[in-house]
Parts: sequence; structure tokens; C-alpha cells
Amino acid sequence: MNTPFAPLSAVLADITPAHRIGRIAALGGGTVTVSGLSDVAALGDRLQIDGRMGGEVLGLTPDSLTVMCDDAPDGLAIGDEVLWKGPASLSPDTSWLGRVIDPLGQPIDGRPLYRGPEARPLRAPPPPPASRRGLGARLATGMAVFDTLLPVVCGQRIGLFAGSGVGKSTLLASFARGLSADVVVIALVGERGREVREFVENVLGTDGMTRAIVVAATSDQSPMMRQRCALAAMTVAEHFRDQGRHVLLLVDSITRFAEAHREVAVAAGEAASLRGYPPSTAHAIMSLAERAGPGAGSSGDITAVFSVLVAGSDMDEPVADILRGTIDGHVVMDRKIAERGRFPAIDLLRSVSRSLPHAATPQENAMIRRARQVLGAWDRAEMMVQAGLYAKGSDPQIDDAIRLTPALDMFLAEKSEGIGASFRRLEGCLI
Ligand SMILES: Nc1ncnc2c1ncn2[C@@H]1O[C@H](COP(=O)(O)OP(=O)(O)OP(=O)(O)O)[C@@H](O)[C@H]1O
Ligand SMILES: [Mg+2]
Repeated sequence: MNTPFAPLSAVLADITPAHRIGRIAALGGGTVTVSGLSDVAALGDRLQIDGRMGGEVLGLTPDSLTVMCDDAPDGLAIGDEVLWKGPASLSPDTSWLGRVIDPLGQPIDGRPLYRGPEARPLRAPPPPPASRRGLGARLATGMAVFDTLLPVVCGQRIGLFAGSGVGKSTLLASFARGLSADVVVIALVGERGREVREFVENVLGTDGMTRAIVVAATSDQSPMMRQRCALAAMTVAEHFRDQGRHVLLLVDSITRFAEAHREVAVAAGEAASLRGYPPSTAHAIMSLAERAGPGAGSSGDITAVFSVLVAGSDMDEPVADILRGTIDGHVVMDRKIAERGRFPAIDLLRSVSRSLPHAATPQENAMIRRARQVLGAWDRAEMMVQAGLYAKGSDPQIDDAIRLTPALDMFLAEKSEGIGASFRRLEGCLI
């Protein structure tokens, strides 16, 4: 289907010969009530309202639909025309590489964008559990800490937990530039408009963008669009995965996805619980995370990193808690470490990669254990040492920690020239 006519065929295939039309029956409470489409529409279907904005079906009764608009519903009136467009879908294409799109698959970088030949549902099931592969081989990341102490393997799903401004987005960008993958899909959920451009132009740069697709919904857009942003990025990632490629999916942030979901669910009539989050939040997060991971059969894998904003380092906060249960590793970033200028500000003792011990050799595992012991001993003794209460020689573990921690701390911020080279560097830091 990759002929010069493919984009035209995709557009032609999308034309519906006959339209089903409904009418706005009521407005208010953040939603629109539409009559006349209850016999065709299904939950999650797309609509076009008054020829000027999209909307999605949130609820159904025998006589009416509850619809949330993509934009503010200002100016809509009773009786306005509503077109039924069918299930929410996206048609990704290889030509999308290097591009910035919105959650509806429209270009937002000022150039035309072709639709791919096949429409994919926005809410797809994960690969069947029985035929799914296990986690794959270790990946080079370009960062010493992830090449050694917190290995990332193919198909792994990782959560990145940190307070605001501790360096989540910068670390995600380092993964986008340095992790070995065929395609990188980045969801920027609810960022400020200025940040999207800055991320694409300065942080990723031309080199980073050649293998990347950015899906962005800015903070001023409706909760519907912000929620769709993560789903759309996942759909694009699945398109490339099904072509047998290894995809890196970065979602910044799952917290803003959950907040958008909360707004949509509450508008649909769900009661808030769990610290303001409605009960369906857990399912929304888990079903998204479950779609990433190893593929089945001849398809590729989706390695995913989800950032989570944890206010005041509260790891029991609902979104963090839900995500932690579904992922294969978590990286905790600490404000104190960022404040003393060590980036990435990873708190190694509270971070875990569930790919260990399988992802490393016995010698490498021994080195990882030793590094953790040293950093653990320093963590326990730091206050005592700095207050001058520790007498050298009274505890060999603390003596080791005093001697080795400065080099290890520097190592955690280093770039990596490859997994083997980084382990040799780590070995040097532990002598
Ligand atoms: N690797 C790094 N090297 C130097 N400075 C860094 C690094 N990572 C983060 N910083 C500093 O921390 C600031 C915040 O980083 P970043 O925007 O990545 O944080 P964030 O956790 O994504 O913030 P937010 O919660 O606002 O999204 C940066 O502007 C920069 O000053
Ligand atoms: Mg950020």
C-alpha cells in the first residue's frame, strides 16, 4: 500500500457516503446532550458538533448522548447539528517520524501530514497474555546509572517518580536521545505551549527528532484532548510495534493523564473517591500501562517510561500507587540530590529495576550489590559523619562508604560509552 496514492486512498476511504445527524438537546455542566443518535452511537465514539469542533460520547441513554467537546463549548446552541463519525481511531504512518501531532492526528508543526492506510482504535487491548514474550535483552541508554545499577531491558515499563522541577522531563529527553530503539514516541500531556516547542527544538533537537514522533496536548486544551494524548501516543507506538520494530514510548506525565481522566469521568457522572480520583482511574492507568511491554509473535516490543508527579515525595499518592503495581521498575528522583546539583537526581536506594538479577551476569550483580551496600551505609552514616560523631575505624562498612561514595556519586551522573565500559568504570569506583 506504500504507493504515491496511499495518502489519497486513506483520505478517500475515510469519506462516509451518508451521514447520521443528531441535534443538541441541552447544554451545561461541561457536557452537551445530543438527541437522535442513540441507535448508532457507542461509548467513546467521535462526533462533529456544529461543523466546528469534535466531541466524544461519554454516556448513552435510549434517547440521548452525553458528549464532551474537544474545545470550550462557547457559542453552541440548542438545535445545532451533530454528525456521528464512528469509533475514535488514528491512522499512523511511517511518514510521521520527525513530526509533532495533536491527539487527533493533526499536524501542529505547520506542515501537511499524511494519514496511514489503516485506522487503529484508540482503545486497543494489550497483546494476549498467553502468547506475550518475557522481558528482552538489556538496552544501552547512554547513561551510566541505567547501563549498570538500574538496567533497562527491551519491553520493560518504568515509572519515573519525582516532585515538580526535579528533572523528570530532562531525564525522559535523555532516554529519547540515548536509548537504543527504532522509533521513539513521546506523549506530552498538558505541558505549557512554550514547553512543547522548547522540548522539540532544544531538548530533542534535529538529531533526536529524526526517529521520534511527538504527540502533544497543551494545558489549555480540554481534558478530553489531554486524556487522548496518552492514548494516541500508545496507538502510534502499537502501529510501529506491529511492524516488528522496537518502540520507546515516553509519557510525560501519567499524573496529568489521570487528572484529565478525572475531569472527564466526573463530567460523565462518576463520583470522585480515592483522594478526588474516581474509581475508574485505576483501570484507565493500568489498561494504558498494560498495552506497553513485550509484544507477541512477530511483532516488536514497546519499552515505556511513564513520569509521575509525586507532591512532596509522597509515594503513596493514588496515581503513584496505582502505577507502581503495574510496572517493572521504578526510578525515584530526589529534590535534595537535585539541589546539590547532581543530575539525573536519582535516589538509587529507593529505585528498583525488576529486570534484575536476570538482566546481569553474576559478577555484574555482585558489583551492583556492593554499590548499593556502599550507598546504603553512607545513607545511614551521613549525618553522624558530618556532625563529627563518627570515629574512623569503628565500622569497616562506614569506612568504605566514606572512601567510595564521592566517586560513586560522580559515576551516577556520568554518560555511558556502552554497558561493558560502564561496568568497568563502576568496578573502578568500588576499589
Ligand atoms: N540533567 C540535568 N542537568 C542540569 N540541570 C538539570 C538536569 N535535569 C534537570 N535540570 C534542572 O532542573 C530543572 C527542571 O527540570 P525538568 O523540567 O526536567 O523537571 P520536571 O520534573 O520535568 O519539572 P515539572 O514538574 O515542572 O514538569 C531544569 O530547568 C534544570 O534547571
Ligand atoms: Mg516536566
